[in-house]
Amino acid sequence: MRIARIHALGEPESLVIEDVEAPVPGPGQLLVEVSACAVNFADSLILQGKYQAKPELPFGPGAEICGRIIELGPEVSGFEAGQRVIGLPGINGYAEQALISAASAVPVPEGMSDEIAASFPIAYGTSHLALGHKAHLKPGETLVVHGAAGGVGLTAVEIGKALGARVIATASTDEKLAIAKAHGADEGINSTTEDLRVRIKELTNGRGANVIYDPVGGEVFNASLRAIDFEGRILVIGFAGGTIPHIPANIVMVKNIDILGLNWGSYQTQRPEVLRASFRQLIDWYLEGKIKPYVSKVFSLEDTAQAIRHVMDRKAEGKVVVKP
Ligand SMILES: NC(=O)c1ccc[n+]([C@@H]2O[C@H](COP(=O)([O-])OP(=O)(O)OC[C@H]3O[C@@H](n4cnc5c(N)ncnc54)[C@H](OP(=O)(O)O)[C@@H]3O)[C@@H](O)[C@H]2O)c1
Repeated sequence: MRIARIHALGEPESLVIEDVEAPVPGPGQLLVEVSACAVNFADSLILQGKYQAKPELPFGPGAEICGRIIELGPEVSGFEAGQRVIGLPGINGYAEQALISAASAVPVPEGMSDEIAASFPIAYGTSHLALGHKAHLKPGETLVVHGAAGGVGLTAVEIGKALGARVIATASTDEKLAIAKAHGADEGINSTTEDLRVRIKELTNGRGANVIYDPVGGEVFNASLRAIDFEGRILVIGFAGGTIPHIPANIVMVKNIDILGLNWGSYQTQRPEVLRASFRQLIDWYLEGKIKPYVSKVFSLEDTAQAIRHVMDRKAEGKVVVKP
């Protein structure tokens, strides 16, 4: 089977498409014929050795997939060959076949396309746990979402609305803001032409936002610290801008705010029951039409490097998917 993988850490262009032996499912695993693998910003980090997980070489990126079960490993029950599932291989997902743990596999809901199924768990799961489980976002509160047209950002806009908040989207272009508004954002701030802190204050009668969702970091995080209301919550989601912010504890104390970190992946091992409940809620919202996953671009396996580069270059809107 073919797989996109690297033999030395580097840029996405180091990926090579190789023919390798199909993997054999071990205890608790499923072998799946991959129909779609979603691109995550983290793919670019893991390739460069900058991610928390540092797999042994050679390996391929590709953390979440949709596909049909080919074979069940030992000690697996409740699944059958041919079934369509969403799965979390963690790595080696840009391939014709991949291994997933049966514990993380979920049957694809009726009517959900391969592209949407593959790109559903991480982006929606992250925003749902962050806004609900962590920040306890309440109806009527004001939520600011940075990078609002990106993979996780767009899901935060939709989930913010589903939880009853007023949502202010920030993005670097008017085109991206239009996408965030089409997915429910009430207002938009162009982070290239407008001052984030000034505009957030203006849109909240000088008080600031109750909750700020930040997958960007750097100066965007610093602006958030100054545009958060008394008892507000800032969610640290990621550092797509490349700079990890340092938190001044005096501002946290003086403004009575909470800085909340959220790493979705850790919930797979630490609190799987929280993840399962979150996933059930998200599927219900999907079936009710409350959230509308957006896949803007589909690439072939041969073009996996271009797909990851597209996300790194800040060109992606919603999710980007590779179809082997
Ligand atoms: N904590 C978790 O569990 C978790 C889960 C998933 C993702 N993440 C993290 O969240 C971040 C976003 O992930 P994603 O998959 O949503 O990526 P994405 O689709 O590329 O979105 C990132 C957004 O960040 C903004 N951005 C600002 N400066 C950027 C730069 N120099 N390069 C690229 N983007 C930049 C872009 O919006 P504008 O152009 O509008 O500014 C872009 O839309 C990443 O750091 C990722 O690792 C964390």
